[in-house]
Amino acid sequence: MTKKFPATRLRRPRSSDWSRRMIRETSISVDDLIWPLFICDGIGQEIPVHSMPGVSRLSVDKAVEAAKQAHKMGIPCIALFPSTQSERRSERGDEALNRDNLINTALSAIKAAVPDIGLLADVALDPYTIHGQDGLVENGNILNDETVGVLVQQAVVQAAAGADIIAPSDMMDGRVGAIRHELDSAGYQHVQIMAYAAKYASGFYGPFRDAVGSGGILAGDKKTYQMDPANRLEALREVELDINEGADSVMIKPGMPYLDIIRDVKEAFGVPTFAYQVSGEYAMLVAASQNGWLDQETVMAESLLAFKRAGADGILTYFAMEMASLLDR
Ligand code: PBG
Repeated sequence: MTKKFPATRLRRPRSSDWSRRMIRETSISVDDLIWPLFICDGIGQEIPVHSMPGVSRLSVDKAVEAAKQAHKMGIPCIALFPSTQSERRSERGDEALNRDNLINTALSAIKAAVPDIGLLADVALDPYTIHGQDGLVENGNILNDETVGVLVQQAVVQAAAGADIIAPSDMMDGRVGAIRHELDSAGYQHVQIMAYAAKYASGFYGPFRDAVGSGGILAGDKKTYQMDPANRLEALREVELDINEGADSVMIKPGMPYLDIIRDVKEAFGVPTFAYQVSGEYAMLVAASQNGWLDQETVMAESLLAFKRAGADGILTYFAMEMASLLDR
């Protein structure tokens, strides 16, 4: 580039709104938003998650209403997470395979009421285990292959209940290929897999664990299966494996501290790439805004746009409805 000041003045095209809009490189639309919802037992329940102001756990009837609203706003997909009561948890997380458990009840109720919104269901055992780990535990070790054996069944049960996208969030090795195989054999060739491909052992999941009731009970950490935040090349290997095993799309998680990984993955593979703006990121932005230290609408829109600029095709975000209304205005 030989262009120099004063012939070149980069402030010139920034001088008015119409011109800024004209040269804008990145945009975000409602099509980019996936809305995570927490589901709880009961009827007419809306139980606030204290560490996530503005977010509540919804009983199935309320979740159906929320899905209707999301569909009306144009949000393409919602992700469901069950807040499972402690008496339904067990050492091996058998409740995961119960066809009538909370998540499956919610999936089928929403599918019946709002057939045209996408339904994403997490596959992992942490909502159902008494120790809060995503897999089966033996002598303090998280068993890989034995866990995969359960996860494939969980995926089929959720597909049967109406899940359109199965999202394994457990980080066991080999689970994407095994789930693809099991879904296909059970007649669910049309059900997609969005792999939590590069999921880091992060401190930013705290409020989520409060929301689903696995925070207080988590024994130890998840570092033997979730990735080390220091690693970048390893994320590419994780993503490559999941694509080769049949993932339709991949996800990077958390979001904002890992924008470099999103960029790397998108450039290396060019597959549909999603970012999860996780609970702790939401909590930070909302808490600072409630203190009057940040402007919530501005930082919400800026943070979500940053994911698009980094290369994400879409974002799972607790701000989805708020962002959709902002885009609507
Ligand atoms: C469960 C799961 C977690 C999240 C999504 N699925 C928590 C964890 O791995 O401990 C975190 C989402 C968030 O923080 O918003 N496997």
